[in-house]
Order: sequence, then structure tokens, then C-alpha cells
Amino acid sequence: MMWDGAAVNVCESESGVMDPSDATPIWHQPVMTAEVLSYLRPSSRAVIVDGTVGTAGHSMTIAPRLLPDGLLICLDRDHGALTLARQRLTEFQPHVTFIHENYRQLPAVLRQLGRECVDGILLDLGMSTFQVDTPERGFSFLHEGPLDMRMDQGQGTTAETLVNTLPADDLAQMLEILGEERFARRIAQRMVQERRIHPLTTTTQLARLIVQAVPAGARHGRLHPATRTFQALRMAVNDELGALEAFLAALPSLLAPQGRAVVITFHSLEDRMVKRAFVQGKERGEWTVLTKKCVRPSDEECQRNPRARSAKLRAVERA
Ligand SMILES: C[S@@+](CC[C@H](N)C(=O)[O-])C[C@H]1O[C@@H](n2cnc3c(N)ncnc32)[C@H](O)[C@@H]1O
Repeated sequence: MMWDGAAVNVCESESGVMDPSDATPIWHQPVMTAEVLSYLRPSSRAVIVDGTVGTAGHSMTIAPRLLPDGLLICLDRDHGALTLARQRLTEFQPHVTFIHENYRQLPAVLRQLGRECVDGILLDLGMSTFQVDTPERGFSFLHEGPLDMRMDQGQGTTAETLVNTLPADDLAQMLEILGEERFARRIAQRMVQERRIHPLTTTTQLARLIVQAVPAGARHGRLHPATRTFQALRMAVNDELGALEAFLAALPSLLAPQGRAVVITFHSLEDRMVKRAFVQGKERGEWTVLTKKCVRPSDEECQRNPRARSAKLRAVERA
């Protein structure tokens, strides 16, 4: 069985993840780029924030539309991703600014830049190919690596700390809520048993333990048995729901009149949060919801880029 995400063989270079055959960086394939552009409507004088720039897939399509008088403000909490984005967007200087920061700090970032609000904001949540395919970041159960999973390696608690210190009930709850993992309790109990003997330190050690913890009949499905646990750990380590919640609360004050926000989610909990915040803001008269239903990628895009399958896009326009 070839599990999802097992596709690319990569090696590391100073500037990021490189394809060994031609030493070209492997960029994250952005999802729904045409839809993003049509909802964001970047124009030649606009100030747009890409709050999750990653390796700049979306930003590469937004930046040319901001010339000659616009500005693109790119944030990422991952230093490595931001370095690659900076290299890739060099030709658009001085119309691009890069900030190593969590997008939940966007109000403070804009204040520091002398701005209160902007014409457009894009969030493309989740992790990038760059992160998954860098084994030492610990995001992938397919590559041997330390259980890190921090997007910002300069701060925060690693996945290793969580799996070795949380009580079994808390681990199970985390896997149930963030991973929607059916076998959360069995996996949590197995982690606690194992860590009494050896600390859990590597991705493949944890993946093996999960395979053993789930019933034999659940070991060979479409998803690798470790997929949901790894997703839950990543979301917990990076407090992904907390960042989104803070952003959604601040969003009305961040958009200029007629300014637009576009959010792409890959997890049902995140999509529910975005949907609820957008409906509540509409009821308060803060904006118009531009996407009555969430927008999904075309079949053709899903075939070309399987990661797009779970993407949902929602957009609002400030009143
Ligand atoms: C799906 S990737 C974005 C890909 C990008 N749109 C592209 O086309 O290359 C998500 C990125 O968001 C970043 N990220 C996730 N949560 C973040 C947060 N709270 N603040 C800033 N960046 C975040 C991750 O580090 C990752 O690089």
C-alpha cells in the first residue's frame, strides 16, 4: 500500500527541500489559485496579506497583480518556509514584505507597519509540502525524524513532550477531537504503556506503535493508521484552532471597507469555525458572505493534486 503523501524523495539543502535530480526546490502546490484570485481581487493599488505564505504558491500569483503601487505582506511562523518565499518573490521587491510571525498577531503586525487595515487577507491553513517532506521537522510518519512538529521551531512545546507527558485521558481527548480518531483511547493507552519502558522520540517509532494499537482490521485502509494521530498532534503543538479563533475575532477590524478575506481549510473543525464566524459577522452587518456554500476544488484539480481533495474555501467582503 502506498500511503498518501509518500510520493516525493527529497534531500535537504541550505535553502530548503530540494529535488535531488535537478536541485530545484520542491514548491508546495497551491490549491484553488484561480478561485483565490477571483475572491481576493488583488488590484494594482491594493495592500494584501498572505498570512500563511508557505513557499509562496499563492503569493506568486497575487504579487504581479499588485504592481505598480500595491503591497503584499507575507507572514509565516515557519522560518524555513519564509526564507523560500523570500527567494521566490525577489523579483517583486519592493512590493513584498516578509514577517516571521503567527498570523494571530496580525493586528500588532499591521500596527507596526503603520497600517490599521488592508484590502485583502488570505489564509491557506494546514502544513506545506516543504514541512511534510523535511524529515527532521517530524511532521511525517513516512520519514524517520524527531517528534518535533513545531511550525515555529524557535518556540513552543514539541510533539515529543506531549506524547511523553500528557495523561492518557488528555491524549485520548486530543486524538478524538483534533484527529477524529476512532481508536483514540486504545492509541493513548498504548502510548502511555510504551513510554513507561522507552520515551517516545521518533516519528516512525510512534507510527509503529499506532499500527499495533489499532485493531488488525483497521491496519490496511486508505489512510495510514497514524494519519489522524499525527494530524491531531500537529494541530495541538501549533495551537492551530487557537490561532484561527483569535484571527476570526480580529478580522472585522483588519479589513478596509470592501476589503476581502479568503480562508482555505482542510479540517472540518476549522471549516465550522470559519463558517460560524462568517455567519455571525454577517448578522452583525460587518460583511457580506461571498460564498453561500463553501467552494471546493474541481475534480480535475483533485486528480492533479490529491491534497486539494479536502480543501474548502470561504470568503467575505467587508461592508
Ligand atoms: C498550506 S501551507 C501554505 C501554502 C501556501 N499558500 C503556498 O501556496 O505555498 C500553510 C503554511 O501556513 C503556515 N502557518 C500555519 N499556521 C500559521 C500561523 N498561525 N501563523 C503563520 N503561519 C502559519 C505554515 O507554516 C505553512 O507554511
